[in-house]
Amino acid sequence: MKNSVNLGFIGISGRGSGMLKELLSCDGVKVPAVCDKYEDRALNGKKIVEENAGYTPDVYLDYKELLKRDDLDGIVCCTTWITHARIAIDSMRAGKHVAIEVGGASDIEECWEMVRASEETGKFCMLLENCCYNRSEMALFNMVKQGLFGEIVHMQGGYQHDLRDEISLGRENRHGRLYNFQMRNGELYPTHQLGPISKVLGINRGNRYISLVSMASKARGLHEWIVNNKGEDYDLANYKFNEGDVVTTMIKCANGETVVLNHDCSLPRPYSRGYRIQGTKGIYMEDGETIYLEGISKENKEHWTHTWEEFYDDGYIDKYDHPLWKKYRQDGIHAGGHGGMDFLVLSAFVESVKVGSQPPIDVYDTATWMAITCLSEQSVAMGSLPVPVPDFTKGMWIDREPYRRGQFCLEEVCTDCFSKEELE
Ligand SMILES: NC(=O)c1ccc[n+]([C@@H]2O[C@H](COP(=O)([O-])OP(=O)(O)OC[C@H]3O[C@@H](n4cnc5c(N)ncnc54)[C@H](O)[C@@H]3O)[C@@H](O)[C@H]2O)c1
Repeated sequence: MKNSVNLGFIGISGRGSGMLKELLSCDGVKVPAVCDKYEDRALNGKKIVEENAGYTPDVYLDYKELLKRDDLDGIVCCTTWITHARIAIDSMRAGKHVAIEVGGASDIEECWEMVRASEETGKFCMLLENCCYNRSEMALFNMVKQGLFGEIVHMQGGYQHDLRDEISLGRENRHGRLYNFQMRNGELYPTHQLGPISKVLGINRGNRYISLVSMASKARGLHEWIVNNKGEDYDLANYKFNEGDVVTTMIKCANGETVVLNHDCSLPRPYSRGYRIQGTKGIYMEDGETIYLEGISKENKEHWTHTWEEFYDDGYIDKYDHPLWKKYRQDGIHAGGHGGMDFLVLSAFVESVKVGSQPPIDVYDTATWMAITCLSEQSVAMGSLPVPVPDFTKGMWIDREPYRRGQFCLEEVCTDCFSKEELE
């Protein structure tokens, strides 16, 4: 295992700036090359490295030039949704491991190309799905693995985030989301909850998604926000956005479970990923942070009713904290992004680059989760017809090579990989 790694960084807008700082705080990371197609953003990347790491990286406007370097072990890519897959493919073909920010695929073929590039080069591609490393998602994963929910039957989740300003002002802010909402209609951002759901369901390892259907509501939210905030004369005031305000997708698994995903970013609402886990012994629901476990939660005997408990206030989160979070909290959470999960997902990638193999979210996971976007667009376009989900493992899901165990593992909770002191 290497002690230090050299990583190139591509895409330095809002997200990239934050992730670059987090990356520089990971143990043994050097970033000698930064890139954005906008010069001011590329130069901002240089400044971030100088201020946070004390050296000056080389600056690129063309990522293909950056990929020609032979001193890079890996690439972190925080560009727009429609560029992730091609940059990932080019990075692997240039001999570098790659991590890409989250987003959905535009086309099923680019998912297959990522898989082929990884298989042919031996380089890995990891989707930086930070929600897999969120504290409550990890504690819930721990509880699932301990059997507290029984056999899992149904799961739900979504990206429910009022982004009307960020989307509508996409041109003024040079931001990538606007054009997607103008021209596409489907589950544009599936992975924040699909990542943790897939790991609970063992997708690509003993289970797989077989088909989906998607339905989109009418699109009204962006129009109303634009008229109210930019006025009737603004050139997008009468634009007919394609993306429905609420897109609902239902996915069926080979082992019989169902998954419901919601994409909901253009109506006023507080943020929620609406996580729900439901099994033969109980249920958890993020909205309200409530949980009910048969035989464990208090019952109201008088009225024969099941009673919700609080996931946080009734102590579940502390009792079932994942060892990684116990360790992380004990270290003192030093990196701020999204409560710590950004630091953890980057640390997982860095650890895999140091070891040189098998990240906890691999190219099969990346392709499967990203593919939901273009498949859902097809289903919506065909009046919610069912669409098959490809098996990117080409049959290996029934008998895969063993996963790499470790502190960042997302297939099981590897408590034995932590020292006694780390778990205190
Ligand atoms: N995981 C999370 O919690 C989280 C949070 C926010 C954003 N994101 C994701 O991070 C990504 C970036 O988000 P953002 O808000 O910064 O988006 P953005 O559109 O503001 O920035 C994307 C950047 O990529 C650059 N870029 C695009 N194509 C390029 C190319 N070919 N070469 C070099 N640079 C290129 C653009 O110039 C821009 O600076 C998106 O996928 C977004 O969904 C994830």
